[in-house]
Amino acid sequence: MSIQENCRILDHQNVAPQHFKLTLSSAYIASHSEPGQFVNVKIGESYDPLLRRPLSVHRVSEEHKRFELLYEVIGRGTELLSKYSVGSELDILGPLGKGFAIDKKKEIAILVGGGMGVAPLLILADELRGKTKAIYVLIGAKTRNRVLCEQDFKGITDQVLVSTDDGSYGKKGFISDVLLDFIDNQLTTHNFQLSTIYACGPKEMLKAVVDIAFQKKIDCQVSMEQHMACGIGTCLGCVIRTKDGYKKVCDEGPVFEGKDVIWH
Ligand SMILES: Cc1cc2nc3c(=O)[nH]c(=O)nc-3n(C[C@H](O)[C@H](O)[C@H](O)COP(=O)(O)OP(=O)(O)OC[C@H]3O[C@@H](n4cnc5c(N)ncnc54)[C@H](O)[C@@H]3O)c2cc1C
Ligand code: FES
Repeated sequence: MSIQENCRILDHQNVAPQHFKLTLSSAYIASHSEPGQFVNVKIGESYDPLLRRPLSVHRVSEEHKRFELLYEVIGRGTELLSKYSVGSELDILGPLGKGFAIDKKKEIAILVGGGMGVAPLLILADELRGKTKAIYVLIGAKTRNRVLCEQDFKGITDQVLVSTDDGSYGKKGFISDVLLDFIDNQLTTHNFQLSTIYACGPKEMLKAVVDIAFQKKIDCQVSMEQHMACGIGTCLGCVIRTKDGYKKVCDEGPVFEGKDVIWH
């Protein structure tokens, strides 16, 4: 169940150019959020911007009754959000949506994040610890200073691989190519059925990851991004096409089985 709550800002850090990490106080959201779920943030006191902005739950600490959001400034809402100072409050609705499903029979988790897509993968890595034998993280970014959370993942997973589009850090190229290389060289065919790929990032990246997963017969879950209006399943403003018809990203997703999504 989701709640609406005024959450106090405990910390607000500029972690990369135009990228911020926001730490907010909420015992409820910290203890009820599942990996892949998001919150809807009301930005500003007035009607502009009118709509809440969806942001993935990035990390939680039940012990400290706090949760984190990681966001990029791309427009008016996130620009205004970046001006909020520590001590002020934000009106938050959440946690919302259907997150990643963790299959305890699977022994290998492969997390693939492109750009801001790493945001929901850190809480997922935290959750997978102790539930799976190995966690591998593949991070793709445009350039060196857009590589997010590498050190955070290194502390809690078995291996972190990075690629940048321009080759300024890690391997040059797309993270989907790194995924294919990783599967071919580090997994045995026997491991394919014991693995799950969890992916979040730009649509083109997700499609490439799902194609690879299909080819190798590896289970794959993808977190889809859509423009949202109500954020609670009533306006149909966020639908995507799936093999079972149209689905609402805000409450039937954002996480879907990769094989179910129709990409065109
Ligand atoms: C389930 C979900 C989880 C998300 N999690 C995160 C997160 O953890 N961190 C993060 O930085 N962002 C996340 N986003 C995207 C984030 O919601 C948007 O970046 C934000 O709403 C933009 O608001 P704005 O007012 O700054 O930009 P706007 O002024 O509204 O838009 C600026 C530009 O970005 C485009 N745009 C805006 N929203 C989206 C969208 N959802 N998909 C594609 N294009 C868009 C607009 O068309 C426009 O061109 C998530 C989106 C969804 C649906
Ligand atoms: S945003 Fe309204 S139904 Fe999803």
